[in-house]
This record gives sequence, structure tokens and C-alpha cells, in this order.
Amino acid sequence: MGDALIVTIDGPAGVGKSTMAKRLARLLGIPYLDTGAMFRSVAWKLGPGAWEWPEARLEAALDDFEYGLSGVGEDSVLSLNGTPIGDEIRTEEVGMWASNIATLPVIRTFLKRAQQAMGEKYSLVAEGRDMGTVVFPDAPYKFFLDASVAERARRRFLQLRELGSPADLAALEERIAKRDAQDRNRAVAPLKAADDAMVIDTTGMDRDQVLGVLKEAVA
Ligand code: C5P
Repeated sequence: MGDALIVTIDGPAGVGKSTMAKRLARLLGIPYLDTGAMFRSVAWKLGPGAWEWPEARLEAALDDFEYGLSGVGEDSVLSLNGTPIGDEIRTEEVGMWASNIATLPVIRTFLKRAQQAMGEKYSLVAEGRDMGTVVFPDAPYKFFLDASVAERARRRFLQLRELGSPADLAALEERIAKRDAQDRNRAVAPLKAADDAMVIDTTGMDRDQVLGVLKEAVA
């Protein structure tokens, strides 16, 4: 891992990982890596139904994927083949596609290599589902954020509204619960806290309070 500092933040959909990862990365003066965006961009590029493709076809398609990372904190830019990944991947629908392809070992192996390669090159705050358990098991600082489904649906609702794609709160809650179940129960790299992660239930905490806990732990 060289001299790179790796901080991992894992947790379920809508718990606020990205916001925390950006802010913590800013404080540390390092980039943040949104690994959900990597799964989402693969799902978006391949399109719905790709999770049913034969492995060889998926492998061939992945040959054309190359990720890059630049910037620091909230200005970190993740690009795919030289083009910054945009907000088109941020819908709940693409989130579900991403969760579907994320069950496939061929996709996970490919993205794990890409993520570890970035961790070799840069210090990172890496956020996702399996950062502390599988991708960066030796990271010195690991966090697992959690919150009730209702609270996460409410946060996602506000976030989507901000992005200009309003959603139905009840439908969101249902989709988040479904995506959680799939992420927690898959055979490969399921969503769970690493044994040595600090688990923070953020229900009832505001962003500054959560950041305060993270900051104190890495200080
Ligand atoms: O975090 P985000 O909602 O953008 O992630 C989209 C989906 O990608 C998740 O529901 C999960 O299935 C998958 N994912 C994953 N491992 C990661 C990051 C995301 O399986 N490290």
C-alpha cells in the first residue's frame, strides 16, 4: 500500500456515506473515491439486463473501462475513459441496476482491482459496501455508517429533489429496503461492517455530528 493513507466508509444506501467521505477527505487533503459510482457507471454503460449476460461477454465489455481520479475532497472527480462521471447515474433505478451487477464476481473482481490500483497511487477516503471488508482490509481507519430505512429514504428523497428528480417517498423506502436486502445477502462481498470497523448509527444525528465522530477518530 506504500505511504498512502486509506480511510474506509461502508454502509447501506442513503446513509450519507458520500457526504461524509467528501468532507472527511477535504479535511485530510486527499481524494475521495465513490465506489458506488463505479458500479453505477458500469450498470449505466452496459444497460439493463447486463446482469444476465454470459461472463465472457461481460469480461470483454469491461476491457474498455478505465477509471481515473483527480482532485481533493468534494472536488474529487472520478472519470471513466477520460470523461467525468455525471449525475445521469444517480437515479434509484440505476442504483438497482448497479446492485444487480454488483452480485456478479466478474464485475466485482474487475472493480476491486481498479479500486486497489487507486489506493496504491493515492491516499483515499474510499466509500462503498466492501471497502473495509474486502478491498482495503488493512486500512487503518474503518467506519460503518448505519441508519433506519425510513431515515435513509427521507435523506435520499431530499437528495433526489435537490438533483431535480423528485421521487415518491414510500416507493423510495421500498426500493431502498429491496436494494439493502440484495446487498446484504449476496454471496460475494456482502454489505457488512468489518470486524475492526467503528459502527456509527447516524439515525437522529446531523451531518456535523457524524463528521465530528469521524474527525476525532482519525485525528
Ligand atoms: O452507493 P451507491 O448507492 O451508489 O451504490 C450502488 C450499488 O452499487 C449498491 O447498492 C451496491 O449494490 C453496489 N456497490 C457495491 N460495492 C461497493 C459500492 C457499491 O456492491 N463498494
